[in-house]
Amino acid sequence: MVEAVVKAADPIVGRLVVVGLGLIGGSFAKGLRESGVCREVVGVDLDAESRRQAVALGVVDRCEADLAVACVGADVIQLAVPILAMEKVLAVLATLDLGRAVITDVGSAKGNVVREAQRVLGQRLARFVPGHPIAGSEQSGVEASNAALFRRHKVILTPLANTESDALQVVDRLWRVLEADVEHMTVERHDEVLAATSHLPHLLAFGLVDSLAKRNENLEIFRYAAGGFRDFTRIAGSDPIMWHDIFLANREAVLRTLDTFRSDLDALRDAVDAGDGHQLLGVFTRAKVAREHFSTILARRAYVDAMNANDLIFLAQPGGRLSGRIRVPGDKSISHRSIMLGSLAEGTTEVEGFLEGEDALATLQAFRDMGVVIEGPHHGRVTIHGVGLHGLKPPPGPIYLGNSGTSMRLLSGLLAAQPFDVTMTGDASLSKRPMNRVANPLREMGAVVETGPEGRPPLTIRGGQTLKALDYKLPMASAQVKSCLLLAGLYAQGRTTVTEPAPTRDHTERMLRGFGYAVDSNGPVASLTSGGTLRATRIEVPADISSAAFFLVAASIAEGSELVLEHVGINPTRTGVIDILRLMGGDIALENQREVGGEPVADLRVRGVKLKGIEIPEELVPLAIDEFPVLFVAAACAEGRTVLRGAEELRVKESDRIQVMADGLIALGVKCEPTPDGIVIEGGIIGGGEVHGHGDHRIAMAFSVASLRATAPIRIHDCANVATSFPNFLSLCAEVGIRVAEEGKS
Ligand code: S3P
Repeated sequence: MVEAVVKAADPIVGRLVVVGLGLIGGSFAKGLRESGVCREVVGVDLDAESRRQAVALGVVDRCEADLAVACVGADVIQLAVPILAMEKVLAVLATLDLGRAVITDVGSAKGNVVREAQRVLGQRLARFVPGHPIAGSEQSGVEASNAALFRRHKVILTPLANTESDALQVVDRLWRVLEADVEHMTVERHDEVLAATSHLPHLLAFGLVDSLAKRNENLEIFRYAAGGFRDFTRIAGSDPIMWHDIFLANREAVLRTLDTFRSDLDALRDAVDAGDGHQLLGVFTRAKVAREHFSTILARRAYVDAMNANDLIFLAQPGGRLSGRIRVPGDKSISHRSIMLGSLAEGTTEVEGFLEGEDALATLQAFRDMGVVIEGPHHGRVTIHGVGLHGLKPPPGPIYLGNSGTSMRLLSGLLAAQPFDVTMTGDASLSKRPMNRVANPLREMGAVVETGPEGRPPLTIRGGQTLKALDYKLPMASAQVKSCLLLAGLYAQGRTTVTEPAPTRDHTERMLRGFGYAVDSNGPVASLTSGGTLRATRIEVPADISSAAFFLVAASIAEGSELVLEHVGINPTRTGVIDILRLMGGDIALENQREVGGEPVADLRVRGVKLKGIEIPEELVPLAIDEFPVLFVAAACAEGRTVLRGAEELRVKESDRIQVMADGLIALGVKCEPTPDGIVIEGGIIGGGEVHGHGDHRIAMAFSVASLRATAPIRIHDCANVATSFPNFLSLCAEVGIRVAEEGKS
């Protein structure tokens, strides 16, 4: 993370010498000079006019024409000369007495500079810190120097095995003063990454323009080359000399990435030649999401980085009353399963009402990575071109599942039976969640599953195993474990049977039947036999009762409210929240009940009431497992005491939901006492204050709802992960009358 900017009062170095006063060297010198962290900034350049301008523009304190003269008494020497000139400069530096001066550089390829440094610097190599700022502009020369050029840009440092840590630290701190995001990596990795993301695209742009220009000598066709051509070839306007240098300097890495690209290009050529639209659609849809995905990273709205991104704070104003009719987004559990089963089916599955939240999108991306062509999502519509139970392909690398435990646990079952190895990783929260609950029974089936320490992610699943069916008694009520084993059972020899200690959501069983696959359910027992096929179908995803729950509680606790939640899934394995609220005195009516695609739905009408505290019946716990954070808010608003027991599973959700809710409620002045398997909450007055979402979407949303009965504003930290399940939460809140918004935005 970006460190606090060092204040002008903290001198980091005495004399900084910048060799080469072009855009990069000039900007580095100017930024540091202005920050006051160097006592003197000295410039060196062969060009007299550049030296004159550098002083005149305040880029440096003074300039020298001679490198040896400039370097007398230097503490840090920054080499910002063209990459092929580095060799010469290093050779001269090697002949000088530089004391303990630190040498660093800004070359766009690191291998060649480091090789040369190793050759000539001898002992002094330990004081050399290779670097590369990924920044630039169409302008060049010292006159374009810009003190803010590196702000929020990446700077990669590639220290060597013997680089002294104080030398590395000084260079690191100087870049941070310029507000750059500094990262460290190996020389080899740097050159590979840059060859792929920068050098190859430049080669293609230069090459394409030249190729077209050669074939059309009068350049007539360029009159018709608007949009696409212009966008694609913008970088062919870059400095030819500099790029010539870069390709000579980073030859090996460029060749490797170019060869891989050539074979991908050949595959595209073959697809065009063969009229293989499926292959083309696969490449294009994957590319489109990949591009959107990294655009959000570049814009710092990274969905993969949600846990580390700058703290997203929700500010909730006290009071309010709800009214209106809304439809919350699609059911998360059903959305995950629609992608999984649609991918494994034969034929094309159409999904409507798909939840475009980060968790379900992580599942979608995982199947794209395994070769499934998936169109959309667009306004909740997804088209999945199923590949059959045996049609998945090895993904190109580890599958990243963000915050989504459902993705990782259900996928484990499927992947255990594939012919290829897969590694699955996740964000900070997912990386702490227990995976032995799926790994152990899968191993009993013959799967090879490797976990991190204490059974945590990453999970590596080895392919090529023959699975045998299992008769398994679940030690905990978990739909994820049940579903994982049923999915593995699709491939296992014999009949797989799971028995659960209490009913949990049965979407997997229902949806398998919807795809024409026989699953027997008999009370707590579900079983299936391998050998069948899944036939593509149409799926309509109902609105998620777990998302509706925030509004059920909100309208219940805010006096005078009346709200209708449309088309909500009311599968009896999910309706614990309605039962619990009704036991507390809640007024919730189910209207227009119907069934869509094997799942019951209804419109829920909810009115404000005076709730009372209750002892929550333990058998309702698995049926309301995701709704407890907001039910705790209902309890805090109720008259009397509410007691929850038998809910230890809450401690291993996206956060320890018992502890973090207790911490937050106590911070707001609510009396409550966490217990190992539940909580005791005394209803009363809710004050305002600061609480923490702990990267858990449901905690952030629960405290937003609490504001309706708070006496002062509530500030909720770490809310970015609301996007995992409920991307439009804030806009629906605004629509119905909950006054919560991102801090700083109205
Ligand atoms: C889910 C099952 C539940 C639930 C999760 C989604 C599912 O987890 O908390 O949000 O889609 O199967 P457990 O199976 O761990 O109880």
